[in-house]
Amino acid sequence: MTAVKLNFHEQGRFICFDHITFWVGNAKQAASYYCNKLGFEPLAYRGLETGSRDVVSHVVKQGKIIYVFSSALNPGNKEMGEHLVKHGDGVKDVAFTVQDCDFLVQKAREQGAVIVKEPHVLEDKFGKVKLAVLQTYGDTTHTLVEREGYTGLFLPGFHTPLFRDPLLDQLPSGKLEFIDHVVGNQPDDEMVPVVEWYRRNLLFHRFWSVDDKQLQTEFSALRSIVVANYEETVKMPINEPAIGKRKSQIQEYVEYYGSAGVQHIAMNTSNIIEAVSNTRCPLNWNQNHIDIHSYTHSHLGAIALTAYKSLNLEFSCVQIQPVNIVFLINCVIVFCVGAEDFGGL
Ligand SMILES: [Fe+2]
Repeated sequence: MTAVKLNFHEQGRFICFDHITFWVGNAKQAASYYCNKLGFEPLAYRGLETGSRDVVSHVVKQGKIIYVFSSALNPGNKEMGEHLVKHGDGVKDVAFTVQDCDFLVQKAREQGAVIVKEPHVLEDKFGKVKLAVLQTYGDTTHTLVEREGYTGLFLPGFHTPLFRDPLLDQLPSGKLEFIDHVVGNQPDDEMVPVVEWYRRNLLFHRFWSVDDKQLQTEFSALRSIVVANYEETVKMPINEPAIGKRKSQIQEYVEYYGSAGVQHIAMNTSNIIEAVSNTRCPLNWNQNHIDIHSYTHSHLGAIALTAYKSLNLEFSCVQIQPVNIVFLINCVIVFCVGAEDFGGL
């Protein structure tokens, strides 16, 4: 394990994950699913009714976690349509809350980063937010969000949700608190160049790394390097496949997603048993809809429960706990169900 902090920005900084944007076929249905199954609440909306003629976005929130689900409204939306054809539903953007967006973009530009959108200001009656977009692995982007002083629901242009499902008031509250880490899967031999991208352009450092001798099952193996911002509030494990008895789960992901992309989002909870129980059994009627398995996340010294699979992603609940917690909750989860059968980690 290594955590070598070599550099920090003389100006500006990366503060935390701000939000994650999914490009999906049906934003309303996707957002509804996350509210009904995972304990999120509707936060904000942008669509035809609010003057957004091309894209509809439903924003949901739980704790400090914000997900945006966006879909094209018009036929022929080339960018969103091609993304959907190539990847299916998936993560398009991982946004960071930052200080001094201009400075951070200029530093990334000097190092050769591709700037998808230059710094620009959005404004409404609640204040101003400055945004910029950088290209990272695959078709994934990073939005830098400088939102100091903005008092609106989410971002300028977003309004109060038009509809709240009455079912939500009958469901147990969610127990998920913040995004712990976001994992990016890469094709073979692409892990180190991607890690270098974060080191060079964002001045992230290596927080931790592991090779295939340490992270493998009987069938599947991978290599992983976790990069983090200076304060280590943003952690991004970067994975690549390694040779095992069967095809690595990372290689499977890259083939099915069509490129590098976000593999899973880990969400921190202070009560993993309640979080998983509430997720699996709200109203006791959707038990069969959740594919739950568990595995150790040794890079965090934590237990992670992959509580739900959707949108080409795994969602993990993470709580720093002794390993024996797994046995306490064995009655709730199906331990490692299916993972070994398919060679997964
Ligand atoms: Fe993870």
